[in-house]
Amino acid sequence: MGQNDILFERAQKTIPGGVNSPVRAFRQVGGTPRFVSKANGPYFWDAENTRYIDLIMSWGPMIVGHAHPEVVQAVQRAAETSFSYGAPTEGEIELAERICELMPSVEQVRMVSSGTEATMSALRLARGYTGRDLIIKFEGCYHGHADSLLVKAGSGLLTFADSTQNAPSSGGVPQDLVKHTLVLPYNDVSALEEVFAKQGDQVAAVILEPIAGNMNLIRPTPEFLSAMRTLTNQHGSVLIYDEVMTGFRVALGGAQSLQGIVPDLTCLGKVMGGGMPMAAFGGKKEIMSKLAPLGNVYQAGTLSGNPVAVAAGLKTLEIVSRPGFYECLTGQTEKLMMGFKQAADKAGVPFAVDSVGGMFGLYFANEIPNSFEAVTKTDIEAFKKFFHAMLDEGVYLAPSAYEAGFTSIAHDNAVLDAIIAAAEKSFQKI
Ligand SMILES: Cc1ncc(COP(=O)(O)O)c(C=O)c1O
Repeated sequence: MGQNDILFERAQKTIPGGVNSPVRAFRQVGGTPRFVSKANGPYFWDAENTRYIDLIMSWGPMIVGHAHPEVVQAVQRAAETSFSYGAPTEGEIELAERICELMPSVEQVRMVSSGTEATMSALRLARGYTGRDLIIKFEGCYHGHADSLLVKAGSGLLTFADSTQNAPSSGGVPQDLVKHTLVLPYNDVSALEEVFAKQGDQVAAVILEPIAGNMNLIRPTPEFLSAMRTLTNQHGSVLIYDEVMTGFRVALGGAQSLQGIVPDLTCLGKVMGGGMPMAAFGGKKEIMSKLAPLGNVYQAGTLSGNPVAVAAGLKTLEIVSRPGFYECLTGQTEKLMMGFKQAADKAGVPFAVDSVGGMFGLYFANEIPNSFEAVTKTDIEAFKKFFHAMLDEGVYLAPSAYEAGFTSIAHDNAVLDAIIAAAEKSFQKI
């Protein structure tokens, strides 16, 4: 038994499933999770001192590479003057100003500690602002684990717009609550039009991942986005862009800057905290001013705007703002995708790839999927074999076929060549 197995067994005694977030448990792919002992640049080392090239980068945040010296120094400096005050600091203003500069749709921003808090608070705010209860989300999009968002549509195509057929997608979510969430298929313009025609005036908010990363990587069509913006405007509903994953990852201005859409509210997390527990939601001043202490929508947090997390976030945003950062990251990620595709073709494995900025999708399918349903039809068994073959070669992919992958600026040519060499061997084995 290796040290990872020993730690996993020990962890399971005091931590449910041995992990503090379910996907870490390797349930879809099987096997023993790697317990990380340290990380640097594009690499991490496990409890057995085996080195892996990291292609999840903490599920997105570590865009400048692990333990970037400038970020480490900023964190150390901040920590020397204590870790939390529960009173405002100048750093929070600087971070808010920087976010508003980089994302012009965000006129005001409130900091929180996780993406879940950001989306949960944005929904409450949208409901408080509109005085309506109903929200629309899309199948396959994950927005954290607030009750209103752990909802699945009733089975059968005809029931998608009937929230009375909904079911909670987690134990503990009240049946009474799920009727306030409509779950529609991603990229389905007519479903959206139909729902707005019937009950648009009851819709408080539409929330979406503007480039989905929790059902592998799925791009929205321009028609889908423009219908969503038009319909929400027409009906006075709040459009919430959940950019927790895509913000500062697909481009400096997030997915909204690539799509030319101006959302009413935006949720941020991951990169904006540089790997620290830090997230935010922001948008139109008119809506944000409904938040306490100005308005009657309550939202608060002991550790919100934490000074150490703010220091990591500010330094990370400074680094990604340097000229050429996203051109380089995007180019390297595209090069990696080409390498994966060529390796699969050589081995005769049906395979497709896609990427936006430093976020990518690998699909065991002939074509890039465009909906959750299409993702579920990709070859999950082939993915599992590929995952383990890559792990044996020292490359750590997301341990689930339903997750996007992430690169960093530290994934240089030598690292990419090593990943592609590993992929060539791995495709031959599956
Ligand atoms: C798009 C999106 N929104 C929200 C969340 C929730 O963020 P957190 O895990 O920080 O609560 C995630 C997490 O992966 C996410 O990908």
